[in-house]
Amino acid sequence: MQISFSNFSNSVETESAFDVLAVAKRLIAGGKDVIELEIGDSPFPSSPSAVKAGIQAIRDDHCHYGPSTGLPEFRQAAAEYVNREYGLQVSAENVVAGPGAKNFEQLFLEAFVNPDDGVLVFSPHFPTYPPNISRRGARMVVSSLKQSRDFRPNLDDVQRFLTDDPSPKAIFLNTPQNPTGGVATEKDLRELADLVRGRDIAVFSDEPYDQMVWNGKHYSPLALPGMLEQCVAAYTFSKSFSMSGWRLGFAVSSAPIIDMISKLTNTALSCVPPFTQLAGIEAMQNDLEERDRRMQDFHDKVRQLVDDLNQIDGVNCLMPGGTFYVFPSFAEICNQLGISSHGLAMFLLEAADDQRGVACLGGECFGEAGHGFIRLSVAQPSERLREAVRFMSDSIQQGGRVADYLSQHEHYRQKTPYLA
Ligand SMILES: Cc1ncc(COP(=O)(O)O)c(C=O)c1O
Repeated sequence: MQISFSNFSNSVETESAFDVLAVAKRLIAGGKDVIELEIGDSPFPSSPSAVKAGIQAIRDDHCHYGPSTGLPEFRQAAAEYVNREYGLQVSAENVVAGPGAKNFEQLFLEAFVNPDDGVLVFSPHFPTYPPNISRRGARMVVSSLKQSRDFRPNLDDVQRFLTDDPSPKAIFLNTPQNPTGGVATEKDLRELADLVRGRDIAVFSDEPYDQMVWNGKHYSPLALPGMLEQCVAAYTFSKSFSMSGWRLGFAVSSAPIIDMISKLTNTALSCVPPFTQLAGIEAMQNDLEERDRRMQDFHDKVRQLVDDLNQIDGVNCLMPGGTFYVFPSFAEICNQLGISSHGLAMFLLEAADDQRGVACLGGECFGEAGHGFIRLSVAQPSERLREAVRFMSDSIQQGGRVADYLSQHEHYRQKTPYLA
């Protein structure tokens, strides 16, 4: 007998960045020169004070179980950090530690959402939102982000969701946004808060790119009146402190909500390793200048990449409000070549040249609304970014090679032209 998998696991879709990463690594191992712009990981080493403190903490044997909420000193340091950075007024009881930000998607949904409840997601979206929503048997309701609106959330859609959905329960907000780089303005957040305040609606504010706002500063909805009581904000050390492999983050909300998320943490992972939390405290307290230098480096590279991409005929790229991604439209080029945007991304990696390639992601890896776009991260030296753009510009001229690639990869053939 073949044991059967659940309906959920049979239908689960994973983050494509990791799939493309695996293909890129295989090609690199085979000798191909691949410029890797597919994954949102910092190219810098882990924050220096964290490394020192982490090693010491392991030597001191902070390697046992700890409280599911997180160490008291970690919670305190995280509260002080967000108060200083975002003008919040929270304390340790408003913080729970987690293994990065991603895990809080699941715990948030477990905390608030029942089967068949509606969850509003602005799309294109981070790819693990849908599987986590379907894990709860809830319904994902999509609001499209438009390049013409700088990829900012459409509040009319929020209003419609609240009035028309049979069972509206939660909203996923992600600002600065992956993959588009869109940033919700303070006014957008105020209007959103006005729509949900006092209603039985929970907001998940996913804020991994809180330090990557390129114009002005980052606003968290948590700073708005009443929002602590119905919003959970998730933060991570992966991006700001280049610590993606440490798996460390935290969530901030009201004390009762934090207690509930800690309870759920207890059932799912017991606790976050104490030595990583001790490392994180040092990063938050001692490495802010280093953090800001790194963010400035990303900003410079984003600007350069946007300028260079806009030199390619048929490409239309906004300067993102934040994040270390750029999200150009290749719709016109895809229409000319008859290829989907992810097909074009895979062509650039696998087939445009035998010796060289560029790894990136088609916008549809982030949902239907991403069709026609390509996501590139800037986690490479400037010269490599320039080389990548030259490579892309040359590769899209090779209609014959694209046609050959499509004949072997029919699923990448464009079904209907994109709106350019
Ligand atoms: C929007 C968004 N949420 C969550 C995460 C997960 O980050 P972490 O490494 O903290 O789990 C990412 C990482 O790319 C992200 O882009």
